Amino acid sequence: MSCQDSFRRSVHYLRISVTDRCNERCLYCFPRDFVGWRETEDLLSYEEILATVAVSVELGFTDFRITGGEPLVRPGVPDLVRGVVKIPGVRSVRLSTNGTRLAGLAAQLREAGLAGINVSLDAIDPKRYYEITGGQLGLVLQGIDAARRLGFPSIKLNTVLLRHRNEDQIEPLLDFAAQRGLILRFIELMPVTSREVLRPENFLSASEIRRKLEKMDQLEPVGQSLGFGPARYFRMGKRGVTVGFIGALSDLHFCEQCNKMRLTADGRLRPCLGNQMEVDLRPFLRPAIDREGLRETFLDTLRKKPLEHSFRDYYEPERTMTALGG
Ligand code: GTP
Ligand code: 5AD
Ligand code: SF4
Repeated sequence: MSCQDSFRRSVHYLRISVTDRCNERCLYCFPRDFVGWRETEDLLSYEEILATVAVSVELGFTDFRITGGEPLVRPGVPDLVRGVVKIPGVRSVRLSTNGTRLAGLAAQLREAGLAGINVSLDAIDPKRYYEITGGQLGLVLQGIDAARRLGFPSIKLNTVLLRHRNEDQIEPLLDFAAQRGLILRFIELMPVTSREVLRPENFLSASEIRRKLEKMDQLEPVGQSLGFGPARYFRMGKRGVTVGFIGALSDLHFCEQCNKMRLTADGRLRPCLGNQMEVDLRPFLRPAIDREGLRETFLDTLRKKPLEHSFRDYYEPERTMTALGG
């Protein structure tokens, strides 16, 4: 078996975007204005998503994450979770959310079998949070509290690093996570929607933050991964908090363990966030589900998965982060 074959055989994690819409407007993401939910033709139905998941399971996929845009702006996400959980061979279903609608949906999601939630939290000061996301921090904190009360096995906080915007939030975020026993991850900006976000005055590398934290406390590597994504985890013993770093640009080994593909809300299979290649699955889902065609196309796309992203060299944004699901 060649090195490329073994790389592809380890791919078992599918991120499913259920919408490219979002009710916030994060500075680094630029979603379209949100004026309420609208079902559109190009959006995969839950039935079409479930058929795609079933085929992916036959090909060895076991772990699934529901993303957006903001997934919880789409009605019925708990039903989708329940449907995916029920497919034999599915090991885990998780969700990434901005948290603003989580409080009202957390119980239904838990009951549906959701195994974990990652919540974006770029600041812990309400004013600063509003400047970065346009949203209300209070709603997100209510969502996090609801998830904690319901005992989700995994709750993580995601902080996108923005120089001059939330550098001063790092310590308070560490305290917030430590007090609640939550994992806090620092994410480097990626030029997914726009190259603009990567100007030197905005960009704050994960390695710079890691060095800063090392001055505060000893960072003990956590032996295992605490999820399916690319974060590297460390325990800050004195602070009593586990932190993760997602450094797509500064970590030169970032893609080595990549185990995932993405399904966009409009039915395209995307093997790598940082590479334009996408394959349209809709011809195998409409007008009727063609399982054999879907399987062949899925497998063929998996075989073409790039070994690493192209963010550092020739990547030119084309689709937005909201369309790609993070
Ligand atoms: P777990 O590790 O299972 O908790 O999930 P995750 O970190 O994959 O999920 P989440 O949606 O919270 O993503 C966190 C950040 O990591 C987001 O900014 C994603 O865009 C980024 N990310 C996740 N997977 C990849 C990847 O394969 N490549 C790149 N470049 N970024 C990724
Ligand atoms: N770079 C890095 N992370 C991003 N996210 C959204 N846009 C970007 C970007 N350009 C993050 C969100 C969320 C996760 C799913 O992706 O903040 O936590
Ligand atoms: Fe919405 Fe997430 Fe984009 Fe922020 S990063 S605008 S929460 S999709």
